[in-house]
Amino acid sequence: MGEAEKIQKAADVSCAHCHGALPPAAHFCPQCGSPADDHWRQPDGHLTFVHGLLSLARGLSSTQDVDALLKRIGQSSEQMLLCEASSIMLLDDEKEHLYFKVATGEKGGIVTRYKVKLGEGIAGRVAQTRESIVVNDVSKDERFGAKYDHISGFKTRSLLCVPMIAGGELVGVLEVLNKKNPDGFNEGDLSFLESLAGLGAVAIGNARVMGGFRNFYSNTIEILISAIESRDLRMAGHCFRVAQRASSLGRRLGLEGQALKDLYYAALLHDIGFLKVAGSWNASRVLIMESPHMEQTHALIGAEMVSGISILKGASGLIALHHENYDGSGFPRGLKGDEISIGGYILSTIESCEEMRMQGYSEEQVLGALKSQAGQKFHPEVAAAYYDVLQQESQSPSLKNA
Ligand SMILES: [Fe+2]
Ligand SMILES: [Fe+2]
Repeated sequence: MGEAEKIQKAADVSCAHCHGALPPAAHFCPQCGSPADDHWRQPDGHLTFVHGLLSLARGLSSTQDVDALLKRIGQSSEQMLLCEASSIMLLDDEKEHLYFKVATGEKGGIVTRYKVKLGEGIAGRVAQTRESIVVNDVSKDERFGAKYDHISGFKTRSLLCVPMIAGGELVGVLEVLNKKNPDGFNEGDLSFLESLAGLGAVAIGNARVMGGFRNFYSNTIEILISAIESRDLRMAGHCFRVAQRASSLGRRLGLEGQALKDLYYAALLHDIGFLKVAGSWNASRVLIMESPHMEQTHALIGAEMVSGISILKGASGLIALHHENYDGSGFPRGLKGDEISIGGYILSTIESCEEMRMQGYSEEQVLGALKSQAGQKFHPEVAAAYYDVLQQESQSPSLKNA
């Protein structure tokens, strides 16, 4: 091709996004900033890239499951850079090895049980130096060890490996293998993968922090439950039983999302007010309260105790309702009818039935009470739904003691 032809060809190349002229060998469009690699210049390829990027961004912001997040990053980098495979290796707690977390491609699963020592091979060097490495022909690069190719049967021709760093700390490395374009990896690919690795590292860091919070939160709830149940020997297992039964009844009555979560946490902590009730224990370690008034007010005390915790705000309102009845015969406020939410009715119905069992009532007697007091003590629809649940359980041996 003559010089004039080359110039003409370069001038013909335009951005698939804004159609502005692209300078020769540009990696990004100077007009709109879109990536300008060969496959992105094709209209379909461009749309695929944008779609992939949007989909990945959605995933990064909505996924708190670290494993799912990493899989998504691996797949996206493989697809968007048009490669045959990708892998993500994370740094272990001792900061001495990388372990495979994700390995896509047909043979990916085979290598995931192996570890890479820091400094070993390309990935180990990237982790050690925190500098990216591009190799467009591994047969000419002595840093490449073919160990994992031998193990997996995969034939690596080219690779691009970048560090994943968040808050100055190395999280792992992200690698893509065998660029389908024969020209190999270019600076645009490198820059894109480094950006993706940075995003991924931050998302992993956030997900780990959130996981830590969730773990702390659920441990705190468990400690509170054991404190509540230790107040009275008859309470053993009561909180989890109420939560399990209230959740399944809530689902059956159409509750979902936040309403179902509020019900679950309210059920777990419904008797938390007993922690503030003064009393003593008899020989059977049954709590004798100082005054009957305390039994009457434990629902409001409990609601007040959790009301300052933002994630338990919805649960707080339900805790206050857990002894109110449909006909106004409950306590502490004697609410009735529409003054009580459906979640409140679910919780008070389950609590009432649990109390009957604690007092030695048989399942037949509990079923009888649900039927005879529907529309009086119990909300008719809630009582009917719970009656059905209990009847099904009594007919299924595996569910009988659920
Ligand atoms: Fe209770
Ligand atoms: Fe209670």
